[in-house]
Amino acid sequence: MTAERVDVTALQQREQTRREIEAAITRVFAPEDEGLRQALAAGKEAGLPAIQISPIQGKFLQLLATTCQAHKILEIGSLAGYSGIWLARSLPANGRLITLEIDAKHAEVVRRSFVQAGVSDRAEVLVGPALDLLPQLVNEGPFDLIFIDADKAPYPRYLEWALKLSRPGSIIVADNCIRGGRALQEGQTQDEGLNGLITYNQLVSRNPRLVSLALAIDDNNTDGFTIAVVRPEGEDAQ
Ligand code: SAH
Ligand code: DHB
Ligand code: MG
Repeated sequence: MTAERVDVTALQQREQTRREIEAAITRVFAPEDEGLRQALAAGKEAGLPAIQISPIQGKFLQLLATTCQAHKILEIGSLAGYSGIWLARSLPANGRLITLEIDAKHAEVVRRSFVQAGVSDRAEVLVGPALDLLPQLVNEGPFDLIFIDADKAPYPRYLEWALKLSRPGSIIVADNCIRGGRALQEGQTQDEGLNGLITYNQLVSRNPRLVSLALAIDDNNTDGFTIAVVRPEGEDAQ
């Protein structure tokens, strides 16, 4: 037996352990109920890609929403409503989630998912390109939590809007901000989407108004959220 083979076995073992830990945390802290499972099934049925966040990410969004006592949440990029259901369920009865979706077919699935999950009283989907819809939300803000998870190239512009629509203490979360480490590299690349993520991480990490961190929290621990909290007025980082 070669040293190389031993290493492969050790790596497979480590990966299996990682998966078992992920499954155990999900089972104990983030189990899916019927509403969440129906949203996944409805997305699959309608032929949407299965690129929603993981249950652990959903529970983490709830934890963040609770931390900032969220009454108003904004999501950019709804897909089939999976993350929207996690978010809406963190709201009090008089709370409100607005989610933005460019694709009318996706939005129809989202509306049905919200009804099935029992959150349609507090969760609403607006259809259109997010950059067209965001200016219409100025009078709806400030939002306590903003979750960015749509097309990647305009992430820096979504950040500008998130800052405009937030208050001190608001939490801005953006998905897919690690990309196996590629979204944390220094220079720009040939990939517009990746460039959007790289710039987003630079803008957030260097903004003195924000306290921020990227966390590899997806189901492979290779992608995840960049989280940013808006500091109190006049308390910029030195
Ligand atoms: N947040 C979802 C996954 C979103 S996938 C979840 O975790 O459950 C990204 C979604 O963003 C897709 O539904 C896509 O149609 C939508 N999208 C892409 N570009 C957009 C744009 N410019 N404005 C609004 N939505 C957009
Ligand atoms: C893609 C987009 C996402 O928002 C995601 O969570 C995973 C993948 C994509 O466009 O490939
Ligand atoms: Mg995503």
